[in-house]
Amino acid sequence: MKTLTLRRPDDWHLHLRDGDVLQAVIGDTSRHFARAIIMPNLVPPVVTTTDAKAYRERILAALPAGDRFEPLMTLYLTEHTDPDDVEEGKKSGLISAVKLYPAGATTNSHGGVRDFNKAMPVLERMAKIGLPLCVHGEVTTPEVDIFDREAVFIETVLDPLRQRLPELKVTMEHVTTADGIDYIKSSKGNLAGSITTHHLIINRNAILVGGIRPHYYCLPVAKRENHRLALRAAATSGDARFFLGTDSAPHVDPLKECACGCAGIYTSVNTMSCLAHVFEDDNALDKLEAFTSLNGPAWYGLKPNEETITLEKRDEPARFPDKRDSGAGPITVFDPMFPLHWQVVEK
Ligand code: NCD
Ligand code: ZN
Repeated sequence: MKTLTLRRPDDWHLHLRDGDVLQAVIGDTSRHFARAIIMPNLVPPVVTTTDAKAYRERILAALPAGDRFEPLMTLYLTEHTDPDDVEEGKKSGLISAVKLYPAGATTNSHGGVRDFNKAMPVLERMAKIGLPLCVHGEVTTPEVDIFDREAVFIETVLDPLRQRLPELKVTMEHVTTADGIDYIKSSKGNLAGSITTHHLIINRNAILVGGIRPHYYCLPVAKRENHRLALRAAATSGDARFFLGTDSAPHVDPLKECACGCAGIYTSVNTMSCLAHVFEDDNALDKLEAFTSLNGPAWYGLKPNEETITLEKRDEPARFPDKRDSGAGPITVFDPMFPLHWQVVEK
């Protein structure tokens, strides 16, 4: 039997939601992950350090007994965000990053930024104090095709912003295109990218071939196969600029299986099994630890975890639940469409 021991992984982009859904999903992350960057797109969003402190407390209260897990809080950037509040949040150790959602880009992003000039004072302060900006890198211009929104964002928003504020540290989250990968590779030190589990596995056919499959729909939407291959090459290369951000984004089934379904794929449950499969397929199991456990902490200025987890490859495929039940309804778990032989050895 093959085994693989890694430093305990972290998730650098995670949606935990609130209330019943938080209660149902938190254990699927804390079982394997030590820390996660927590997305602030609640309704209403987490915009001030006071909001973040209260949300952090709700997350800790929902943790299964005995689990050790550190939520790394973020603030949702608006045109009214107060630079002093952001600076205080960083100084107190509460805030790890600020999240930019272009208005209307994705789930609960209507309060996001429309006019970047209005956000400049905060962005300037972040550059000064070394607080990273996490970006959802898609334009929302109706004329731009949804499959081109990431590439157009890089050209028309991200690159001009980085030229204007070269000292700002930017995490380009959930990169889905070869354009994104190339752009990150062309940078020197102040840009990194997170990659999700599902974008390493599916291309856009998963959503559309043989019927419309809402549980493979997320934003940024999965692209063509050549883009998936570029993501795989970057993730498995060991390049320190790329790390895991699952973007695990639970929505209850009725909100996905309907005429206008929500974007988001729930991958927390089987992410480590999926990733071991992917990295083994690409003969890169020796690079998995860099992707899940080393590159992210280095980028965020944190130490890697001291604890380890062990994965075993078993003949019998792992059984994961198809759905996670929550008080708000069932949440479908990501199905990679191949059997998962790698499993985390539960302690
Ligand atoms: C996320 C969500 O549901 O909050 N959805 C998604 O498809 N990834 C929002 C986001 O990160 O875009
Ligand atoms: Zn997300």
